[in-house]
Amino acid sequence: MMTVLLVVLATAAAASVVHREPAWSHSTLLDGGLGHGGRVRLSWRPRERDILFQLEAPTLGYVGVGFSASGGMAGSDIILAWVDDRSGTPHLLDCHATSNAAPILDEQEDVKLLWGRQNGTHTCLRFRRAWDTCDHQDMALGEDTVRVIWAMGDNDPVIDDIVGVSGLEWHGAHNRGSHSLHLRGPPVLLQPNSADVYTWDVRQEEFIVPDNMDTVYWCRIFKAPGLTRKHHMLGYEPIISPESVRHVHHMLLYECAPKSRQIPLLQKAASERGAACYSPAMPPEWDSCLTPVVAWAVGSQGEFFPEHVGIPLGEDDRSTYFMLEVHYDNPSLKRLRDNSGLRIHYTPNLRPHDAGILSTGIAVSPLHMIPPQQKAYTTFGYCPSPCTNKLLPSDGIKVISVVLHSHMAGSRMELRHLRNGKELPRIAQDRHYDFNYQQSRRLPREITVLPGDELVTECVYKTVNRSYPTYGGYSTKQEMCLSFALHYPRTSLAACHSMTPVEYFFSTLGVQQFYGVDMPAVERLFLKTGSPDNGASDEEKLKKLVKLFKTTTTLPPPVFDVPMGNVWDEEANQKAILTLKAARDFTIEGEGDAQGAGPGGLFADLVIKEPTQFRNRTFTEHLLALPWTEVDFTSRLEAVLSSSHMAFCRLQDDQLAVPADIFELKNTTVFLDDSEPPASPCQHEFREDLDQQHLFSGSSSLVMDSKLAFSVWIVIRLTVKPF
Ligand SMILES: *[C@@H]1O[C@H](CO)[C@@H](O)[C@H](O)[C@H]1NC(C)=O
Ligand SMILES: *[C@@H]1O[C@H](CO)[C@@H](O)[C@H](O)[C@H]1NC(C)=O
Ligand SMILES: *[C@@H]1O[C@H](CO)[C@@H](O)[C@H](O)[C@H]1NC(C)=O
Ligand SMILES: *[C@@H]1O[C@H](CO)[C@@H](O)[C@H](O)[C@H]1NC(C)=O
Repeated sequence: MMTVLLVVLATAAAASVVHREPAWSHSTLLDGGLGHGGRVRLSWRPRERDILFQLEAPTLGYVGVGFSASGGMAGSDIILAWVDDRSGTPHLLDCHATSNAAPILDEQEDVKLLWGRQNGTHTCLRFRRAWDTCDHQDMALGEDTVRVIWAMGDNDPVIDDIVGVSGLEWHGAHNRGSHSLHLRGPPVLLQPNSADVYTWDVRQEEFIVPDNMDTVYWCRIFKAPGLTRKHHMLGYEPIISPESVRHVHHMLLYECAPKSRQIPLLQKAASERGAACYSPAMPPEWDSCLTPVVAWAVGSQGEFFPEHVGIPLGEDDRSTYFMLEVHYDNPSLKRLRDNSGLRIHYTPNLRPHDAGILSTGIAVSPLHMIPPQQKAYTTFGYCPSPCTNKLLPSDGIKVISVVLHSHMAGSRMELRHLRNGKELPRIAQDRHYDFNYQQSRRLPREITVLPGDELVTECVYKTVNRSYPTYGGYSTKQEMCLSFALHYPRTSLAACHSMTPVEYFFSTLGVQQFYGVDMPAVERLFLKTGSPDNGASDEEKLKKLVKLFKTTTTLPPPVFDVPMGNVWDEEANQKAILTLKAARDFTIEGEGDAQGAGPGGLFADLVIKEPTQFRNRTFTEHLLALPWTEVDFTSRLEAVLSSSHMAFCRLQDDQLAVPADIFELKNTTVFLDDSEPPASPCQHEFREDLDQQHLFSGSSSLVMDSKLAFSVWIVIRLTVKPF
């Protein structure tokens, strides 16, 4: 009864306020939209302490909007509102859900209804909510990705029914959805009104989305329009075929950095229709298409760069070839004919600054290993001081926006910034990373990175449902840990990545020697996996050598014979699926077996010689025998592996700017700068965060001794465990 009274008081107060429409800085259609059937619009304006919202929906009944870390209704923070059909009085309730059932009223109401009205077709409501309400039944909002869930129904609820949690008519399967957003931060910039802007469409042509796979990644090479001099790319918009609105999930456009001998191959590929991304059918030279210049995800309207910068287009071979990756989500297995893609806007009127994209994080390799059954396992990519010192101009570079990139297991990411051993405010962070919402985040202010600064990309993974280790790789089931910073001026620094030193990795896991190859040779093998172009013959020799000593039989190499450029037919697709499943470097969750769980055959090819306890096991078998469910074990492994980094500072032509070197990442948690926003004043946290304790932040400076002790511990631990 108490709550009913409060609600009535709140609505009475709201009705008496004459409200002037606030300027909405952000607006989006929650049901995908892009002009095709989008109906539910959320507009908002972030302010210092709170956010103003407007919610419009085509219903005369109720409309609900909620905040969720996972996208599900259970465990979410929900606002339920409607306008009474008879009296015209608006109502709003601050609720939460503990399951997929009617929301429950919060003990404390923290959302202020400002205004509400319905006309013949729509309900429109405005309300205000603090970023952090200090209510454990509300989710603290901020710069993290938030899954905004929504639902609507045809009838007005009865307040008593709500309090009693019944009588709320179900919204049905179609009148609901989930949409990821960044609520804080500046709005995405839209197309400037200027003359001399041309467009270049990068899109599929009558691509037949197969009707027998629920997830399809299709990649295609494009050549920039024939330009005789440098132009600037200003921004992009999505082009979505009406039929595909519900199916095109994300699109990424990567710039290729081919070696000169690969250019004719890309030239030829540009006239063809593409290949299944990262499958054996994808030609190896496409792997040079690594730098994302456009990241679009469902719900985004596109993005334009600030007026003082542009990304060079058509300047040289480097900004000439691009790869479009389209992710189709097709759970109902419809056969679709698709022409979706991106419209790139560019101009010959050069802007003051050339912008570039700096890629930093963990080098893509199987050594970026994430154990199975982890709630939150952290890995670090490190860009050391000598790299920025040598390659950044003396005034530094200014970072405009950041794309954080990991794959399906990524749950939290940060781009950290260190100067003289002190931690500066994080450049970007997301505690609720959503693989399907890789929208770039424009920073509230440009951040200057000076020569000598260090950058740390921190990634937290959740693998509770995986039975086998996940390895670094290109497939979405494998993992990455990268951040891409749009900055100016452009420098010759293309990428600053790191990996666990090879020998350190194996010895940490208790292995001293393999048959047939010494550790320096194993090291060469792994250092080359990132760039298959250099001395492939060496690698071949090593592989043969390793094979001589193999004791296990392995699957034959996959034969992937989908002809390039052909529309995917039924039979070829079936073969492709079978081949993908058989491919040893493609782990399909829940379907892997011991053979399928190894990365690219490399770990399965290495047979342990020393220590004798593990003799004759392949490294893959060794990994599968580790006690991954023991928190003590995995947290120590996490700490030891995070403390040592071999860093590569690469120029745009893929040469190293400073010799690769090993660095120890110091414990930086102590140095948090004063300018870091104050921690939440609240006593309690939203319950969804409870299982996401920050296990390990700032890495340890654990010394060799503890590493040795650890690997000895592994040996002892595993020797007593029957294999
Ligand atoms: C009713 O309201 C909606 C949203 O507020 C608006 O788009 C629509 O044009 C309105 N309809 C009429 C008939 O005024
Ligand atoms: C893990 O599996 C369980 C049971 O199949 C499922 O309910 C849960 O949603 C899964 N969790 C993730 C993170 O995929
Ligand atoms: C390891 O394999 C080699 C060659 O097959 C064999 O001679 C040796 O006995 C095996 N060692 C152990 C400890 O199983
Ligand atoms: C890092 O420093 C903090 C603060 O002094 C300390 O509490 C923490 O134990 C240190 N972590 C490691 C791994 O040394």
